Amino acid sequence: MAKKTTRFYCKGCGHEELRWMGQCPGCREWNTFTEMNLSKASDTKGSRGFSAKDKKQTGFGAGAATGGTAAAWPEAVGPDGRLRPVPLRKISSADKKRLPVEPAEVANVMGGGLVEGSVVLLGGEPGVGKSTLLTGLGLSWVRRDIRVIYVAGEESPSQIRMRAERLGFKPDQEDGFEILPEVHLETLLEALRTALEDEKRPCVIIADSIQTLHSEHIDAYPGSPTQIKYCGGVLADFARQTGHPVFLVGHVTKSGDLAGPKLLEHMVDTVLYFEGSGGGAIRMVRAVKNRFGTTGELAVMEMRSDGLAPVDQAGVLFLSGRRGVEPGSAVCAVKNGSRTFLVEVQALVSSSRYGTPQRVVQGVDSKRVGLLCAILEKRAGLDLGGCDIFVKVAGGGRIDDPGADLAIMTALASSLRERPVPLDTLILGEVGLTGEVRQVADMESRLREASRHGFGRAILGGGKSGRKARQVEGMEMVVATSVEEAVRLAFEARGRKAGGGA
Ligand code: TYD
Ligand code: MG
Repeated sequence: MAKKTTRFYCKGCGHEELRWMGQCPGCREWNTFTEMNLSKASDTKGSRGFSAKDKKQTGFGAGAATGGTAAAWPEAVGPDGRLRPVPLRKISSADKKRLPVEPAEVANVMGGGLVEGSVVLLGGEPGVGKSTLLTGLGLSWVRRDIRVIYVAGEESPSQIRMRAERLGFKPDQEDGFEILPEVHLETLLEALRTALEDEKRPCVIIADSIQTLHSEHIDAYPGSPTQIKYCGGVLADFARQTGHPVFLVGHVTKSGDLAGPKLLEHMVDTVLYFEGSGGGAIRMVRAVKNRFGTTGELAVMEMRSDGLAPVDQAGVLFLSGRRGVEPGSAVCAVKNGSRTFLVEVQALVSSSRYGTPQRVVQGVDSKRVGLLCAILEKRAGLDLGGCDIFVKVAGGGRIDDPGADLAIMTALASSLRERPVPLDTLILGEVGLTGEVRQVADMESRLREASRHGFGRAILGGGKSGRKARQVEGMEMVVATSVEEAVRLAFEARGRKAGGGA
């Protein structure tokens, strides 16, 4: 008989303890602890409800699956059947096989392809197009003889068929895309085990969504943190042991509450976020974690009536139409992985009529804006005290690149002083607390992108030890060392010979 093991979980935040507690140390809520019987889960099926023999079911490198348990990795088990540490030299460094991903935009974000045995979490607001994206990826896989099992928790199989048809799939003529309408985890695993028995081909499993799954071993509603954590963990183990990649779809709410999917981030290999931009048809996929590639790459697509399609001129998506006519706008070039985007920062500074001044920021970290405001006050002599400050990125974009500091500050100064920045001026620089402006990384590619779109003048950070940026044809480069100087030069540029439109 298996040993009785129990754990206690907070139903609110998923915090785990060995004993029951009245108040959760994680979220400080009262009476949220619930008991979970782990022995029940592991009675007959090994850890988390499925047996080690699962790993033998596929012929494509299951043993080398990521992370992995001893069961998934026979080299670690000595002749006496006990687990032992293995020297690095005995571990093969062979690259993992990657399944191709289409469109190429998404492959790029995932580091070149979908690694076998990996677990990918795709988070996004309801309705943004997660199911559409994964159905599209699924269809491209089945056309390459990769099997796809779509676990339908959210929608009926006929709805999924209709979506697939909308994306150009012909279910009567093409094969390989299978639907598994099951939300009970244990039944689902059993069905997957049976379906994948003796399967030699890779099979991608798409669980849409993790919030709809529930395990009988957890005493909580589907979608509660404990269920999400447990079901996600079981499916992640399944991927690693069988070598079949698993996609988990997770909803995040409009208020940006990531509580559910966030719990899974540490147990999956790749976390992708799928977001809309400014309420339009533009959709972006970014990787916030990737064990098999870099983060920071951005895929930009457009939601059309027949699915997601690449966007022309993605580099200028974040510029508004009436740019430069009014004060309070500045353009910088930001890097997202290997791609460059021209991004317009808009600011509105007005004197506050009511009590505490407001600061509303969209698309930039609000603490960063607070810091930049403080530097502007202290180092460039701008009086922002008592002003309402609004900052946003045009086109619903988001900036994480510190190279946009100077553009944010210039937009603020431009609004406060009611002086527009000339249309063809690009502003690039990272700003330090002492008010010095530093050069940004990868300057040349940013300047080139701007030059391609008609920018003829760039205000750049130099710093005392600043390397000289390589000249880019058609681009006048003005180097500033301090914020004060940079902001002054940004407006002065208008009087110089570079004046035309972008
Ligand atoms: P969906 O993939 O269901 O979103 P999620 O799974 O993230 O909740 O897609 C939602 C929206 O996308 C829906 O309003 C319809 C629209 N859509 C298109 O515009 N074009 C298409 O080809 C498809 C399939 C959906
Ligand atoms: Mg969906």
